[in-house]
Parts: sequence; structure tokens; C-alpha cells
Amino acid sequence: MTIDVVVFPVAGLGSRFLPVTKAVPKEMLPIVDIPLIQLAVEEAHRAGIRDVVLVTSASKRAIEDHFDHSWELEHMLESRGKTELLQHVRTVFPPGMRFSVVRQPQALGLGHAVLCAQPVVGNRPFAVMLPDDLIDAPGAGCLADMVALHRETGAYSLAVEEVPREQTGRYGVVSLRGERITGMVEKPKPEVAPSTLAVVGRYVLPAEVFTALQEVKPGAGGEIQLTDGIAALLGRCEFRPHRFAGVRYDCGSKLGHLMANFAWAMKDPALAAALRPWIQEQLR
Ligand code: G1P
Repeated sequence: MTIDVVVFPVAGLGSRFLPVTKAVPKEMLPIVDIPLIQLAVEEAHRAGIRDVVLVTSASKRAIEDHFDHSWELEHMLESRGKTELLQHVRTVFPPGMRFSVVRQPQALGLGHAVLCAQPVVGNRPFAVMLPDDLIDAPGAGCLADMVALHRETGAYSLAVEEVPREQTGRYGVVSLRGERITGMVEKPKPEVAPSTLAVVGRYVLPAEVFTALQEVKPGAGGEIQLTDGIAALLGRCEFRPHRFAGVRYDCGSKLGHLMANFAWAMKDPALAAALRPWIQEQLR
């Protein structure tokens, strides 16, 4: 079965980036000149997904505005002959993509945010992407590989990465039997973590997750956790770990966000040529 819908839980406060996130959603923070959410939407488009569900909250209007036409701006750029900029503005909206917006009225956790998307997703298997986790992967990208795995084998999957044991408390951590996920815990302390294989922000999930999420009790941090909803299905559905190729930047942290900006700047020949000597100078 093919995956044609992706859920972006983007209702969070972004407190680690205050004060900038007081009025600007953290998903709108730029990587050079592209907001994080746009990079994630482009990855979903390359995976063949055409339905996007944004789960937002009050003060997150900028995200839906970003994916809408700005007729005034387009008209102004056109009348001034700024064709290159006009092209940049128009390609924000990948061809054929449809956006729906649902609200998460209360911050009750990631699992609760995903559950808010149920009326739009319905009975379809679906993807979840956390735009904070920016994955620079070869080919069509991390999610495209996970969608292909589902198409070819029917297996659901979670993107995973080895992390230092002292960091398990920041992630969902999985246990494996062969290439099958058999257990999952949200934010375990290092001494009780079942492994050091952490889930990062890409999921391909069955619609049954919604029913499971309706039944789970608040877990880590007193929140309805996506991890607990998935864990309830492990005996019934096959979930595989997807060890993606490439690099993940944790853009929910200042250091990760800075590193991603640097990495993306170095992809631009003109910026790279100017940055390289400047950095060498700074390091001296
Ligand atoms: C969420 C998930 C966690 C996952 C992490 C990946 O945590 O709950 O299982 O490992 O994203 O970034 P959060 O970062 O929202 O605390």
C-alpha cells in the first residue's frame, strides 16, 4: 500500500528558542533562507506524498500562511521583473500538494497532536514528520526510503539513530529482535534504557495507531506519547527500524540549528567560497 498523507505536529511552543519563538513558530526558523517546515514538506513531496496535515495551535498562523499564495507579493515581484525571486516564492508550494490544517487545542503531547489529525487521515496508513529533525540524506531522502519499504514489504517503520547512552532521556528508545522492533520506551534514563537506538522524527504508521492513542494513558512528562501508542501495536503490526544514510541535525537545539545552517550554506558555492576563509580566520 502506498503512503499518500503526512502529519506534521507543529503546535509546540518552541521554548528552547525563546525569545525568537515568542511570535515566530520554531518550524519557521530558517536554514539559510528556507524554513525548516518547507525542507520537511519538500522531503515528503520527494517521497511521493501529496496530502499534508498541519497540526497547529494559536500563534502558529505563519506556517499555514507560508504555504498559501501571497498574491500581493507575487504581483509586486512580477511587475518589478524579479523573476528569480518570484520563482522562489512560487516553489514554496510543491506541485500537486494539498494542505489541511487542524488545531491541537491543548498541549497534551505528541501522541495527542497526531490523534488530532485522525479526521483528515482517516483509515489510511500515514507518515509523521518532526521538522526539528532535519535529515540530510542521499537520494530522495529518509522518508522516501521508508515509504518504499512499506510499499515493498508492508512493514511500518521508524527512523532510528545510535545515540550516546547519556542522551537516551531525550528520545524514544527501541529494542529489537533481528530487524523487528519489539519494544519502545519514551525518554528512559540511561541506566534503564533498553538500547541506545533512538527514534528520530520520521515514522510510517498504520491507522490503528489512532485507536491505540485513544486508549493510552499519559506517559513520560504526563503527556500522551506517540511512543506509547506505537508500543501498544508492536505485537500486531510489523515495525522495522530504519537506519537512514546521511546526517541528522537536531534543529530543536541551538547547536544543531547552527550546524545545519553551516552545512546548508556550504552547499551553496558562492556562500561556501565566502564562508570558508572567514571561518578559518575565526578559528585562528
Ligand atoms: C519526540 C518523541 C521521541 C523522539 C523525538 C525525536 O520527542 O516523543 O520519541 O525520539 O521526538 O526527535 P520530543 O523531541 O518532542 O521531546
